[in-house]
Amino acid sequence: MRRPKRLILNAFSMNCVSHIQQGLWVRDDTRQLEYAGLAPWLDLARLLERGGFDTLFLADVMGLYDTFRGSGDTSIREGMQVPANDPMLLIPAMASVTEHLGFAFTASVYQAHPFTFARQCSTLDHLTGGRVGWNIVTTYLPNAMENLGLDDLPDHDGRYDFADEYLEVGYKLWEGSWEEDAVLADRTRRIYADPAKVHRIDHVGPNFRVAGPHLCEPSPQRTPLLFQAGSSDRGREFAARHAEGVFVITSRTALAAGTGPVPDIRRRAAALGRNPDDIAFFQGLSIVVGGTEAEARAKEAAYLEQLSTDGALAHLSGALGVDLGAYDPDAPLESFRGQAMQGVVRGLLENAPSGTRTFRDLMRANMAGQFLTGTPEQVADALVEWGEAGIDGFNLVYSTTPGTFVDIIDGVVPLLRERGHLEDGYRPGPLRQKLFGAPRLPDRHPGAAYRRRPTGPASS
Ligand SMILES: Cc1cc2nc3c(=O)[nH]c(=O)nc-3n(C[C@H](O)[C@H](O)[C@H](O)COP(=O)(O)O)c2cc1C
Repeated sequence: MRRPKRLILNAFSMNCVSHIQQGLWVRDDTRQLEYAGLAPWLDLARLLERGGFDTLFLADVMGLYDTFRGSGDTSIREGMQVPANDPMLLIPAMASVTEHLGFAFTASVYQAHPFTFARQCSTLDHLTGGRVGWNIVTTYLPNAMENLGLDDLPDHDGRYDFADEYLEVGYKLWEGSWEEDAVLADRTRRIYADPAKVHRIDHVGPNFRVAGPHLCEPSPQRTPLLFQAGSSDRGREFAARHAEGVFVITSRTALAAGTGPVPDIRRRAAALGRNPDDIAFFQGLSIVVGGTEAEARAKEAAYLEQLSTDGALAHLSGALGVDLGAYDPDAPLESFRGQAMQGVVRGLLENAPSGTRTFRDLMRANMAGQFLTGTPEQVADALVEWGEAGIDGFNLVYSTTPGTFVDIIDGVVPLLRERGHLEDGYRPGPLRQKLFGAPRLPDRHPGAAYRRRPTGPASS
């Protein structure tokens, strides 16, 4: 008999008040207002580890969403990804109260010089015993670029070219600068590290000049586990080259038909010489669990009722770079059809779930992530079906935190364990080893090409 497919669970969150499901922070059963302190994060990390989650996945932005109605006022009023504190700085504290949970954080290739960033990653990888992942983003908010000293967003594909060089610098530092046996820590001979085995990288490229050597000795994973979410042609190409985990928003119909981002990125990865099985795909889902189906539906209805349309519009306007404030949220969708309109809005209409009647419905459906609502059995069945269709795991969006994760852990996780889709405990070792079987980048990953062969015996 075929072994049940092991599914990967990531809890999706952000170091801010309102992440994806805008407006629900006002509820009294969510801890979003505590985001700026450590307590909710330490509790969340402990909870997720108790529930067998693989990672806590933290989103991030470097600027304000200010496209909607031409200003950032709505975002500020709604706490919509502003204020937003740094995700990386939460990790050591959360790691100190857990043993196995992975921590994936988002960082833009524009936010820090790659030398500085590579050092931060290595430090985190050391501090966590190899439990960090990096979600590579290229930044879509013009205000972020203004904050970082650029006049405007560089063009879309150019941002990915910039990211390619950023990764090249990272690989050279993480993989190529320190040989495996460079560190001796030899008290008798008073040699900490062998200078013959620690190398400059002397990178010179269109955007960066970095001499090296890397300031950190090799950490458990060296290169952090690499995540990415790109749906454009260039974004998929980038994912196929670098990513080990890819966020997708796809459908089971597309998966069954062999269309959409998953088979496409796997094909591209194979064409680049990688093993397509070295990439895991994660579907974003908003799970709502109830003791009965009716209870779950009532819960979902209450969330939908409380979602903020303005918050969702501000979020989506920023992500699309189009001011959706021009559209009347209560106009029936039919009134948009056939009009000459922005391609992005047309795309939203074409992908609207059934039952979507107004632009407001469309916003709610789009920004909440795809809802998966039902009893623990129904949710577990659906997750298994996603797995059978070709998805490797899930990025689970919360409606309330930690409530959504508690419901999943108490209701759904035991069923997935019973059916063999989740293990009872954690596998040993760093995050990459837990998910892919080995702590370091696989040989066919482009980062592995920067490794050095051993140069011979240590100098005395
Ligand atoms: C589920 C998901 C999560 C994302 N999280 C972030 C994020 O935290 N920060 C960010 O700047 N971009 C984020 N993005 C945006 C992507 O990195 C990327 O810019 C976007 O998908 C557009 O890619 P494309 O230009 O290749 O189509 C996310 C995208 C998806 C689908």
